[in-house]
Amino acid sequence: MLFRCIRLFACVFCVIYCTQICTSQYLNFDNFDTATTALPFPACRSDSIECLRRGLRTFFFLMDSEYVGMKSVDPIILNSLTVALPAEQLSFLMRRINVTGAKWTKLAERKFNLPGGKNGIRFISDLHVTGEITMMTAARIDPFFAQITIDIQDVESNITYAWAGQRGYDNEDYILIGPERVAVRNARTPSFFLQSNLRDDTSMIENLLLEKPALLDHISNEITVSVMHAIVDNFRLFARNIPAKHYYNYQDD
Ligand SMILES: *[C@@H]1O[C@H](CO)[C@@H](O)[C@H](O)[C@H]1NC(C)=O
Ligand SMILES: *[C@@H]1O[C@H](CO)[C@@H](O)[C@H](O)[C@H]1NC(C)=O
Repeated sequence: MLFRCIRLFACVFCVIYCTQICTSQYLNFDNFDTATTALPFPACRSDSIECLRRGLRTFFFLMDSEYVGMKSVDPIILNSLTVALPAEQLSFLMRRINVTGAKWTKLAERKFNLPGGKNGIRFISDLHVTGEITMMTAARIDPFFAQITIDIQDVESNITYAWAGQRGYDNEDYILIGPERVAVRNARTPSFFLQSNLRDDTSMIENLLLEKPALLDHISNEITVSVMHAIVDNFRLFARNIPAKHYYNYQDD
């Protein structure tokens, strides 16, 4: 077993060290042959948070270029989202949710060897959301409708996941990432803006969202969690396809 210390190869997320201007490099990644070519970056050590931060930047560019089949997360379109408050006979449906800003997510912390041998990562993001919002009430048969934009500033996401090392057919070591758990918290209540041709609809929805900030908080958190799962899906794909030595420096430890 090559991996000597659990702490060391936790760092799936932190892939690549960007020595030059990233944009000049990632343009080529589409045609990159993963089987025969090493990634053109020095690997990060797990304790070098600055290296990991730069790696994360590059990683988002790799997602954009759909490297090893990853999917871009900026912008990302999410399926519909519903929130119901049965006690108040209220429900909300959001559709055509378009989230931008994920690629500037900052790495705040890496955590190794959590209970159960899991690893963790703490991200801080600013997300900008546009979509349609429909509000259904018991008081009116026709739903209320508006276009909404939401600004989610400084949202903190804690991601924890199980992992395992595996030797591939090619005799290289790969990291398998298990299911992840995502906990998010907004530093402050997200701000929103509504637009509609129907002025009554706009003001009804607006009043409700202002009256119940927890509702907007909840909607925003659901959106952030979805974005984080999409990011981890990409990490998982990457780690399954790229030998750990290409993005992770564990030889000296
Ligand atoms: C999502 O929003 C971005 C930025 O506003 C825009 O460029 C992109 O076309 C939108 N995508 C869709 C599918 O609406
Ligand atoms: C994330 O983890 C940090 C400790 O690393 C903790 O202080 C914080 O409360 C956690 N946040 C959430 C949203 O779970």
